[in-house]
Amino acid sequence: MNTTHPLPWWSNAVVYQLYVRSFADANGDGIGDLDGITNRLQYLADLGIDAIWLNPCYPSPQKDHGYDVADYLNIEPEYGDLAAYDRLIAEATRLNIRVLMDIVPNHCSTENDWFKRALAAGAGSELREWFYFRDGKGDDGSLPPNNWQAWFGGSAWNRTTNPDGTPGQWYLAMFTPDQPDLNWNHEPVRLAFDNILRFWWDRGAAGFRIDAPAVVGKTPGLPDAPPVPEGTLVTDIAVQNPHVYHRPEVHELFVRWRSVADAYEAEHPGRDIVLIGETFGPSLDIIASYVNERELHTTFFFTLLLNNWEAHRWRQAIQDGGNTLAKGGTSLAWTLNNHDAQRNVSRLGHSDAHLPSSFTFNNLINSHEPVDVEVGTRRARASMLIQGALPGPLFLYFGEELGLPEVLDLPEWALQDPIWERSGRTERGRDGCRVPMPWTSDASTNYGFSDGTDAPQQPWLPQPAQWSELAADQQTNDPNSMLSLYRDVLAARRAMSTQPWVDMLDLPQSPDDTDQATDNQANEDNPIVAYKRGNTTVIANLGSEPFVLPTDCGEIILASGHCPEPGILPSDTAVWLGPARQ
Ligand code: GLC
Ligand code: CA
Repeated sequence: MNTTHPLPWWSNAVVYQLYVRSFADANGDGIGDLDGITNRLQYLADLGIDAIWLNPCYPSPQKDHGYDVADYLNIEPEYGDLAAYDRLIAEATRLNIRVLMDIVPNHCSTENDWFKRALAAGAGSELREWFYFRDGKGDDGSLPPNNWQAWFGGSAWNRTTNPDGTPGQWYLAMFTPDQPDLNWNHEPVRLAFDNILRFWWDRGAAGFRIDAPAVVGKTPGLPDAPPVPEGTLVTDIAVQNPHVYHRPEVHELFVRWRSVADAYEAEHPGRDIVLIGETFGPSLDIIASYVNERELHTTFFFTLLLNNWEAHRWRQAIQDGGNTLAKGGTSLAWTLNNHDAQRNVSRLGHSDAHLPSSFTFNNLINSHEPVDVEVGTRRARASMLIQGALPGPLFLYFGEELGLPEVLDLPEWALQDPIWERSGRTERGRDGCRVPMPWTSDASTNYGFSDGTDAPQQPWLPQPAQWSELAADQQTNDPNSMLSLYRDVLAARRAMSTQPWVDMLDLPQSPDDTDQATDNQANEDNPIVAYKRGNTTVIANLGSEPFVLPTDCGEIILASGHCPEPGILPSDTAVWLGPARQ
């Protein structure tokens, strides 16, 4: 590590992910908007964050809540307009908060002019090269060009209709039919995105979270995918298609965007752009291969979000993160929650909290085991202490600081995630983690979500009545609330050394076991996660028995839960230890 240069702003930053639709509604239509965010930025400054990431807020028919972009150079009218965006940037800048946008390269919306033009131009035209248009198979072209399945269910191919009403070519859409895949082998597509990046940087964005980059490349010739085992869940089928997943074009995309970013920084001294990839993948090596001086600045490491409540998995994740860093100087971003996964308060409170270890999109959204929210909350609090001292950017998801649980019982009429319909109403999808934020206990303003207007519309997803107790204003002055814990962790993190990595600690499992005959780190039954960063020691007890704390690590600076007996760490609890505060 080059110590002569200060670390870039994002290297240890705390980024707060805003599901724009669900954070704050300034005009009372029941839908979150940019002015709502601007009005609430002080709350985020008080929380102690460095940046916000806005989920897509471009004009969109909202078939996949903004991940179907109709115009990359404007703001969704439901959320405001470019002037509202400028107001948001101005207020964020005043509060020293940076703004990251969400860019969607793999697909746009069928409502995008690019797609409409391509349709109008007809088969064989250059404009159709922007997408994957193909003739169908069979005598009359009535069969899809290949057997690829979409991520959200059904064939990845959709047939078009010619202007004269006859059936036409097919187009590829790996998510919903409303999201046609763009052809990244076509230079005009790449040029269009170069301009989009610069457009938002010019308006003050500090960087991009890059959506679903792993699927931008497709095997030339679009061959059939190998068969998947019978019984594979709808939302897992596309993951197993090697012709769309982690192909070399992913590197090409990143190399190009990094060079655009580097050039922009060179032209605009003082600007420090960050590109972060949503790089789900089969191995950490693949994910890490995208982060280097020519590609991404950093990337999500989703393992903490995928972990069940077993200490060895958390130790492994931290070790893996460290090894990756050691190998390539790669920066990884940590996260416990996002808009595609069940909220961790519920996830970790599942009856056995034992989700399958290998990643599938499904583990995160489809578990219907009974949930004990109290247990889940205790574990979520401990998780924040485990995560909070790790080097690298930290991404929080709105409402996680209030300990919001997943809303598992949304009525069927309310469900909006396309997964629900696309799976033939067998998989409920991701709406349960997107329910609007409770700010106050006042039900008449949608719990403060739509305050500032008289008689607001119902929120776009119904909020559970019990959330009045979790509202931000109920927690803000309670030193034991989740909100206070998050503020405390972020404040202590800020004061922490910028030490680039941590040392894992192998603590004796009982006071008599000081010779450490066994390798406790590798022992799957060892319920303790412990590491040291600078002079802070983090110890978490994921087991069911109390644990005797070492006496030589200083005193408790932070605790995720009540520790009634001195020197004893209760079950499902974590602490930070360090030198006594002056
Ligand atoms: C990413 C997004 C998800 C979206 C999908 C398609 O996985 O996080 O919300 O549905 O891409 O754009
Ligand atoms: Ca609104």
